[in-house]
Amino acid sequence: MSLLRLFFFFLAILLLSTRVRLVTSHEESGEWHCEPDSESRVAAEFKPGLITLDGHADDWGDVYGFDFPLLPALDPDQENAYKGGKMTVKALHDGKDIYFLLQVDGNYVYSKGNNNGCPSVALMFQAGESASYNKMGGCKESPQTCNATSCRGYEVDIMHFSIGNAVPGRLYGGNLIDNGEGNGGDRFGHLVDTYAWNPHCRNLDGIGPSGNDSTAQNDWKGAWWHSSFTTHTGFVAEDSPYASSGQKGTYYYEFSRPLRTMDRLQQDVQFTIGQSSKFSAAFWYPTDGNPWHGSAHYSISCDWVPLDVSPGSSSPVKGASGSAWGAASGFALLLSVVSFCISVFVGYRVSINKAIPFTPIDHL
Ligand SMILES: *[C@@H]1O[C@H](CO)[C@@H](O)[C@H](O)[C@H]1NC(C)=O
Ligand SMILES: *[C@@H]1O[C@H](CO)[C@@H](O)[C@H](O)[C@H]1NC(C)=O
Repeated sequence: MSLLRLFFFFLAILLLSTRVRLVTSHEESGEWHCEPDSESRVAAEFKPGLITLDGHADDWGDVYGFDFPLLPALDPDQENAYKGGKMTVKALHDGKDIYFLLQVDGNYVYSKGNNNGCPSVALMFQAGESASYNKMGGCKESPQTCNATSCRGYEVDIMHFSIGNAVPGRLYGGNLIDNGEGNGGDRFGHLVDTYAWNPHCRNLDGIGPSGNDSTAQNDWKGAWWHSSFTTHTGFVAEDSPYASSGQKGTYYYEFSRPLRTMDRLQQDVQFTIGQSSKFSAAFWYPTDGNPWHGSAHYSISCDWVPLDVSPGSSSPVKGASGSAWGAASGFALLLSVVSFCISVFVGYRVSINKAIPFTPIDHL
């Protein structure tokens, strides 16, 4: 029993030290200047059969979380960071789907039917190889001239979840009706699948400036939750606002998507096991009761963050930083030190016990 406790103690120390190193820090000041933390990355390990997509974070307990400061996306100034704290990002895959958990502390605000009056999150991925993080792909064309040809290679894939009409714990995203119309919309909960070439050339999947293509789908699914909710049984829309305003707590946003989609328009990122993708996460929060507006959001980094989709073995992803090896060998060293200490301790106990006279058990 005590051996187990010792083991977990060392494990905790090890995780803590890795965590401290992985936490990103940006010392931005003055005008736009991006110095992304080269160590910041997110690992999506192979962990099948662990996650239920319900907005609850309990099942993510054993999954490592990567912490990021939330700085204003358009002016990443430390002083204007989100006051509520950092965003923790967790990811994993089961060989078929990839899962994300975004977790951020925030007093409870909810304004039914008003998406901009509720905290919202988005994920953005590089799809075209020339797509930059800054300026959402960074295609130079104007809204009048941008199209799939003139902005080829600058595609970013965006998932945006606005919760004003989404009942906590319920599943939103791709549904039969919107997918039947062949676009990335979600008329029920506004968990939409979109793509962009720059901030002014953004569309739902399947909708485009030179015409619509009905082969597109919303491939995302997701749910949200706030830790101040007191019930785990099903909410319905009539229960809104679900909890009283201003309560301290944590918002949880949980998502999944197939690693590969049937996209043939270059509007979805495609994940490959054993390879890295580039992504970022954004957060909108209605401050002082004022609804947020589109460009006023926080971001976890001022550049792409690598997302490593690991294969089902324990070997680190090719191209991953050395920290995975460092952690593994450090762990092995710790284990050997622990077992050495235990063997010394056991030897000591055995030698002590020799001096104690034999006590027949029926005398006890
Ligand atoms: C795309 O935009 C370019 C530049 O504006 C234009 O020449 C071209 O005809 C457009 N292509 C389509 C398919 O609309
Ligand atoms: C494409 O779909 C959008 C949204 O449904 C619609 O407003 C637009 O008129 C469509 N464009 C064309 C060219 O059909």
